[in-house]
Amino acid sequence: MSETGKNWWKEGVIYQIYPRSFKDSNGDGIGDIPGIISKLDYLQSLGIDMVWLNPVYGSPNDDNGYDISNYYDIMKEFGTMEDFDVLLKGLHDRKIRLLMDLVVNHTSDEHPWFKEAKQSRESAYYDYYHWWPAEKGTPPFRYSHFDASGNAWTYNKATNSYYLHYFSEKMPDINWENAATRQAIYEIMRFWFKKGVDGFRMDAICYISKDTSWPDVRNLVRDKYNNDWAGYYAHGPHLHDYLQEMRKETMDGFDVTTLAEASGITIDEALLFVKEDRKQLHMLYHFEGMMLGYEKNGYKRPDPKGPDLVQLKKVYTAWDEVFEQDGWGTIYLGNHDQPRMVSRWGNDTEEFREVSAKMLMTFLLTMRATPIFYNGDEIGMTNIRFNKIEDYRDIETINMYKYLQSKKEDLERFLKDQQTSARDNGRTPFQWDDSINAGFTTGKPWLKINDNYTTLNEAAASSNDRSILQFFRQMVLLRKHTPALVYGTYDLYDEKHPQVYTYTRTLDKEMLLIVLNFSKEKIDYDIPFQLAADIEPLVNNMLTFNLKTLEPYQALIFGPLPPSKVVSRRAERVLKTKKEVAF
Ligand code: GLC
Ligand code: CA
Repeated sequence: MSETGKNWWKEGVIYQIYPRSFKDSNGDGIGDIPGIISKLDYLQSLGIDMVWLNPVYGSPNDDNGYDISNYYDIMKEFGTMEDFDVLLKGLHDRKIRLLMDLVVNHTSDEHPWFKEAKQSRESAYYDYYHWWPAEKGTPPFRYSHFDASGNAWTYNKATNSYYLHYFSEKMPDINWENAATRQAIYEIMRFWFKKGVDGFRMDAICYISKDTSWPDVRNLVRDKYNNDWAGYYAHGPHLHDYLQEMRKETMDGFDVTTLAEASGITIDEALLFVKEDRKQLHMLYHFEGMMLGYEKNGYKRPDPKGPDLVQLKKVYTAWDEVFEQDGWGTIYLGNHDQPRMVSRWGNDTEEFREVSAKMLMTFLLTMRATPIFYNGDEIGMTNIRFNKIEDYRDIETINMYKYLQSKKEDLERFLKDQQTSARDNGRTPFQWDDSINAGFTTGKPWLKINDNYTTLNEAAASSNDRSILQFFRQMVLLRKHTPALVYGTYDLYDEKHPQVYTYTRTLDKEMLLIVLNFSKEKIDYDIPFQLAADIEPLVNNMLTFNLKTLEPYQALIFGPLPPSKVVSRRAERVLKTKKEVAF
């Protein structure tokens, strides 16, 4: 990594806020911007550098803000533009940057563009969307992620044509082929950059370009993408032209960053987006790690055995390698589209919740990639595991339920699987304290609060020196003060070990050794380095330490060690590949 490649967005930690569930200020049961403002000091206390805020624009909330009806305004439930300005200033005063969510694959059907477009084929806005004229018969099948019928085309009587919606029927896809539409989108982006926002997380950005000759692609999707439509959707013919144009038209002159949601993108394509001299985007997040332990076909069906660690190491090692020379990655284990990190990748039982959450934090904060933490993960919030469909609010779960019902599929199995994988698991309100409704609201929360809030809450965590939260704060500080953890090279050891993930991070003459037990077993483990008998770990997520044994979910960091102090059993191999490390 050259000096010139250094950047604030590579060195910082991102904290994602799901505003609907963060903090309610007025008792309507819905989190809001004044609520976030009341927690600014808390955000600062975490040591994080960037906030990614899920959409807060005008929206009828078919998909919790991802269906935007006004890009220049704030959603009524969340507050006003004045509130937003106070939030932005409050973050900047605390040296925290703000990334907004940019949702421009689709709008709401209540956006004025669509309201105009659906009136007549003559409307100037008709061409802002994708249509299939009914005189040509029924449109070639496209799958819709959130439609109860699974069909991405919906008929509109006034224009006698079908409009395209990769997501729900209230989320029509924008036609990027139209230069006027693209300019209208760039205008929106410039508006927010001029306000001072520091970047965008880009929703479903790989889907913006489509093959508008609309070929029948069912066989292609089956054969090439294993029936996963995201793969096909992510490969439109003009995607990179649009991204290049967007960068030039909106970002020149602003010190901003972008984070692409890159579903359907494989490792071989990553650099097309983020190679620095291609001047498109800055960072992306992939789904390869997230999909481990799920069947890809249909809805996310969890494998009861959970994700396989050898596979996980392979994925994250490969994604590290791709950015070895150029571009930059991110790393995350949960967000608003996923279940809770500790429930999915760790162990949320009373016995192991704390220790496994700390182990996962150690992982995220010691990899060469910008870490993204989802709100609530810093206190170890867990899946709620609803057992009836009525408890869910998420359109993805509700419409998939209807879809499976219409196909007479096993709904009980679906509900059981959703306890592991549903998005609402990660969306339950933030647990601030043990008062009524976890201190989130004085009213009725929009989504049920997890019963464990009486003991699992921020206040309790803040007053306990050994809590997950305090560990998080210390680990964030450690990353900040240890350049090797940001820019250092990453080397994997014991890649075939089924329970332990061991790697080093090395920068100049400094090295850290990270050893993580991803299992609930206590195991004998021979660390692949000769360490002094009296060595003390720099980080240990538990009180005990023994050179030969790892406790369940134990996380250890040794170092920073000058390489002369560490003797690798693999010294020869390391020397051959890493000349700068003189063991
Ligand atoms: C992205 C968002 C998700 C949303 C979808 C449609 O995947 O992260 O929450 O439902 O796009 O906008
Ligand atoms: Ca509110």
